[in-house]
Amino acid sequence: MNWKTQNSELIKQRPFFDDLIKRKFVFAPTAEIYGGVAGLFDYGPLGATIKQNFINIWRKHFVMEEDFLEVPTTTLTPQIVFKHPGHEDRFNDFMVKDNQTKETFRADHLLESILEQKINNKQFSEQERVVYEEMLRSIPNFQSSADFEKLFEKLDVRNPTHDKNKLRGVYPFNLMFSTKIGPMGDQLAYFRPETAQSIFVNFKRLLEFKNGKLPFGASCIGNAYRNEIAPRNGLLRVREFEMAEIEYFIDPEETSFSKFNEVSSLIIPLLGRDEQTDGKDIVLMSLDDAVKKNRIQGEVLAYYIGRTWLFALAIGLKSDHLRFRQHCKGEMAHYARDCWDLEVLSSFGWIECVGLADRSAYDLNAHSKGSDEKLVASRIFETPQEREQIIIEFNRASIGKTFRTSSKAVMEFLDSMSIIEAKDLKDQMCKNGKATVLGCEITKEMVPKLEIEKVMIQEEKYTPYVIEPSFGIGRLIYCLLEQSFRMREDVQRTYFYFTPAIAPYKIVFLSLINKKELVDQVISLENEYRKAGYPCKSDYGSSAIGKRYARTDELGIPFGVTVDFQTLEDKTVTLRDLISTKQIRIPINQLKTCIDDAINEKTTFIELSKIYKEVKINPNDKSSS
Ligand code: ATP
Ligand code: GLY
Repeated sequence: MNWKTQNSELIKQRPFFDDLIKRKFVFAPTAEIYGGVAGLFDYGPLGATIKQNFINIWRKHFVMEEDFLEVPTTTLTPQIVFKHPGHEDRFNDFMVKDNQTKETFRADHLLESILEQKINNKQFSEQERVVYEEMLRSIPNFQSSADFEKLFEKLDVRNPTHDKNKLRGVYPFNLMFSTKIGPMGDQLAYFRPETAQSIFVNFKRLLEFKNGKLPFGASCIGNAYRNEIAPRNGLLRVREFEMAEIEYFIDPEETSFSKFNEVSSLIIPLLGRDEQTDGKDIVLMSLDDAVKKNRIQGEVLAYYIGRTWLFALAIGLKSDHLRFRQHCKGEMAHYARDCWDLEVLSSFGWIECVGLADRSAYDLNAHSKGSDEKLVASRIFETPQEREQIIIEFNRASIGKTFRTSSKAVMEFLDSMSIIEAKDLKDQMCKNGKATVLGCEITKEMVPKLEIEKVMIQEEKYTPYVIEPSFGIGRLIYCLLEQSFRMREDVQRTYFYFTPAIAPYKIVFLSLINKKELVDQVISLENEYRKAGYPCKSDYGSSAIGKRYARTDELGIPFGVTVDFQTLEDKTVTLRDLISTKQIRIPINQLKTCIDDAINEKTTFIELSKIYKEVKINPNDKSSS
């Protein structure tokens, strides 16, 4: 299967899709009456309910089933939280500015679109296009302005929209929004660009809550803010968005994960580093194989890749529109050891919707250092274990006086060096009477005692590693909306088809015509079902029934229950299926069970139509009346 060319249908449908999104206020630009602001969107009632249903499924699938500790933390975050893990210095995208028009562009996106155009342009020779493909594949590895600058020069990049001005001088741009807390405005803060850090800074309490036992997971659902250089494509790249993040804390010495066998046989589409470097397509592989062949680092990361795959299918995404892409070396965040994205095929191409990263002990170490709190867990051994231990004494005054500004770093090194580093230091000292640490020459006088002892221990402290699945809710919802969009070709009517759990309304009650006896029955049914907790609607206006069905189809309501004159005689109603528009006749007192079973996916309309008689479809249903 060619996974690259499947989105032509999605592209074709986009104008009709955009029209339905707008007309039914699924989401719309913030402050639209004032012209809106790029990258800010409000959800309408339909979008908001879909989002709520999405979150409910997410909570059930992850928080409930995995017993995560959910922490709804503040979005306004003191500066120090983003100082120590490096966000202040590195939460950047690379930007380039047209100095004449003042327009700005995201450097990687601009290069990608230029190269994609060249690759698709048959005027270039096969050889030239291969070179452009290699350049395209190298972009994710760029780490500095200079890397970008070289390619800008080579391709002689110009402003694509104005005057063909030369674009040079690529620079990093920090995406965090800052603000000031307090009436004096003296405390710098950021609107968080990810929820993850709020979990790390609560680690000590969370570990206590779990009675000190690992592994465990904590989650946070909430808003994040990024001052994106070029927000675009609906909900796909915005400046305020909701995330659902998990931090799963593990002992790095545990190589197996007891839950892995629940997903290990799943066959998953993987686009690993090798496939990308060689310009190849995805491979289908079991998670078990992927771990054994060292493609995915570790069972825990693979487990969450499997769980994410199952979640994507549960909300109704199509399996052949999904793939997991591994980050190339330079593309990984500064802290990550291995990283895979769930990408979903949209009309805008493959979009990263979930990032799954092995963040190692990076964040906890950074916050331990920054706060002087020990963010560690304990390994308790049943039988005492032999370990090596460093016994060191050093002369602070002498180190301070000799190395001045470097002395703090030297002492920190001596305090936290590994056994291997300590052995090396001891060797140097024994051989030469001195040793070099961070470029500084250490003497015996500075370190009068350095021993490595064998001790028996019952307990050992360590900094946990963390596996982080990070879900962008808006991106997933946008992709789901595109995939749920349908068109009745013969009558040019558009509608949504959601899984019952995602559908914002589950049932609509209609009267065949606008007659009091029928309308009363519709209102009473709607009230009864609302009280019982079913999200439902009614429609008993004077428009023809076909038009009203079309109206409710646009809201993606899976089941239409119509009250007609026969209802008054024999207490039966018709039940209409959104996709096929077929109808069956059901006694009112059996309706709830049928709908419950359908919502809970215990039955389907096709199954029900084997039990209940199909009724002749109203000729108005498909007409444009
Ligand atoms: P990108 O490379 O597309 O900018 P990212 O790698 O910076 O994304 P992460 O930091 O991994 O994204 O964020 C986790 C998730 O948050 C992403 O998988 C995505 O679903 C979502 N996300 C990130 N940035 C945005 C945005 N500007 N608008 C909407 N969702 C976003
Ligand atoms: N169930 C009545 C109709 O669709 O027309």
